[in-house]
Amino acid sequence: MKEQLEKIRASAMEALALAREATDLEALRVKVLGKKGELTAVLKMMGKLSPEERPVMGQLANETRAAIEAELEHRRQEIAAAAMERKLAEEAVDVTIPGEEIAMGHKHPMNTALDEAKEIFIGMGFQILEGPEVELADYNFTKLNTEEGHPARDWSDTFYLKEDSSVLLRTQTSPMQIRAMEAIKEPPIRILAPGRVYRKDEVDATHSPMFHQIEGLVIDKGITMADLKGTLETLVKSLYGEDSVVRFRPHHFPFTEPSCEVDVQCFKCHGAGCPTCKGEGWIELLGAGMVHPKVLEGCGIDPEVYSGFAFGIGLERMAMRRFQISDLRLIFENDIRFLQQF
Ligand code: PHE
Repeated sequence: MKEQLEKIRASAMEALALAREATDLEALRVKVLGKKGELTAVLKMMGKLSPEERPVMGQLANETRAAIEAELEHRRQEIAAAAMERKLAEEAVDVTIPGEEIAMGHKHPMNTALDEAKEIFIGMGFQILEGPEVELADYNFTKLNTEEGHPARDWSDTFYLKEDSSVLLRTQTSPMQIRAMEAIKEPPIRILAPGRVYRKDEVDATHSPMFHQIEGLVIDKGITMADLKGTLETLVKSLYGEDSVVRFRPHHFPFTEPSCEVDVQCFKCHGAGCPTCKGEGWIELLGAGMVHPKVLEGCGIDPEVYSGFAFGIGLERMAMRRFQISDLRLIFENDIRFLQQF
């Protein structure tokens, strides 16, 4: 029996040393120490021993069990520790590995140009306003002194949304003049209203049925053409440099009187004439003028007390000049090869 016990102990120790998993240990425990285990089987034979042998064998059996249990526990801890080591190694994060680059977009050149313009006017005390692109003909035309029958209201130029021509896609941001006056009521008024406008134009290098304008309006006591000139000159010089030359050219708009268009001397040829300015020497930037007394009156502002000026800038033109973009279509096509240049 002594030999049997020693054999059980030796083979158990050997198996324990080879065990790799917690499940191996459990299987071994059942095989050796379990109810039907090897050691239990030996103990069951104790009854057959002589009374002298019994305590000796009993003690030896207990020692064997204790030794195997101790080694089981020892191996259990070792295997758990190894498993933890392995897990830590597998899940380790190498913080020195360079991250995966995320392709980030950036501001569209149109937004850059718009933000620059906003910045300049905010610096002069203007408030930024936004208004509807689906507009009443009343606001887009009538209240801007453009009565029914005026050629500007023609169906061939305007996207009307109703058969009776009462609702349309605004053809200009000028209705924002009316909306500003109606909303603010008491001058002083100093607003800038950027947004989309729509006209029935075929797409080409300089035309699109949708484009952007920035409307400006200033109303106060004693506002004159000198204020208009000073404000717009400040804009042009901030955008295109202190040495840029500005020209005010007489023009006609129904809602301003007098009216003008503002040109900047071509930055390429300085007035001599070149392909960029189409031989003109000058590049047209915007339309402007003193707000017509009829328009003021229509909005409940007394033209005997107040006067003002308004202007409308083509934002695409401004951006094209700012970034030397030669074709308007590039701005809307969203070709990444183009956009990444800015
Ligand atoms: N709305 C005019 C246009 O679209 C521009 C303009 C705005 C002219 C304000 C005068 C005053 O051409």
